[in-house]
Amino acid sequence: VTLLYEGKAKQVFSVSGEPDLVRMEFKDSLTAFNAQKKGDFPAKGMINCQIATLIFQKLIRHGIESHFVRSEGDRAMIVKQLIMLPLEVVVRNRVAGSLAERLGIAEGKPVRAPIVEFYYKNDALADPLVTAEQVESLGLLPHLSISQTHEVLLSLQAFAKKLNQALIKIWQQVGLELVDFKFEVGTDKDGRLLLADEITPDSCRLWDLKTQEKFDKDRFRRDLGGVAEAYHEVLRRLKTDDGGRP
Ligand SMILES: Nc1ncnc2c1ncn2[C@@H]1O[C@H](COP(=O)(O)OP(=O)(O)OP(=O)(O)O)[C@@H](O)[C@H]1O
Ligand SMILES: [Mg+2]
Repeated sequence: VTLLYEGKAKQVFSVSGEPDLVRMEFKDSLTAFNAQKKGDFPAKGMINCQIATLIFQKLIRHGIESHFVRSEGDRAMIVKQLIMLPLEVVVRNRVAGSLAERLGIAEGKPVRAPIVEFYYKNDALADPLVTAEQVESLGLLPHLSISQTHEVLLSLQAFAKKLNQALIKIWQQVGLELVDFKFEVGTDKDGRLLLADEITPDSCRLWDLKTQEKFDKDRFRRDLGGVAEAYHEVLRRLKTDDGGRP
């Protein structure tokens, strides 16, 4: 077993005897603003791993497949090893975060239709926003022709909207509104595009449906306090949720 990659939130290990799989172990660390702000709390890795696991399992019932294969202990999961697209896809149902700041729009304003945005995964450049045309014309997806890139971005956009509708329902069932979220995808050995990485309060903005209280990483970014309590509460709600059925 070898450590293949260590990121800010997870370690990725090989799995002995299963070359198409990797083990993703969730760490207790918490970072924001391209890792300029760092923190952690005990059991954070365990909580996020269990949240992501429950979400991936619920997504299957909405017809959405991910890289998730099985749980391994309480802070790791076995997933299909994918070739990751160097993109982060963001879907927004209300204006918040960087969009609110950049355009000077009040946080919380609902959007007329969900917005799908692409960010180029590059730490040195702080993951800049890119247009589909930039991705195509600059050849930002390695090994793909311009027309293949075009097709991939079209299917990503459709997938993002389908995933958004499923996640809105899943979070609604536990009393949370999905304000926005980020996801990553990769291709498996058969060339299929699969949801990868994680869906957790690190990657979603989640507001309580009744009180508007934040239950996500903004508590850490903005020093609102109660970070650990919020993550614990998200997991508690998902665990006690009876359905999550479409
Ligand atoms: N199924 C998968 N196969 C291969 N790599 C994956 C898979 N799912 C997620 N990854 C990658 O594993 C890494 C997970 O680590 P982590 O989330 O800690 O990274 P990070 O610090 O956010 O850095 P990065 O900028 O690389 O995402 C990410 O680079 C992610 O893209
Ligand atoms: Mg990450």
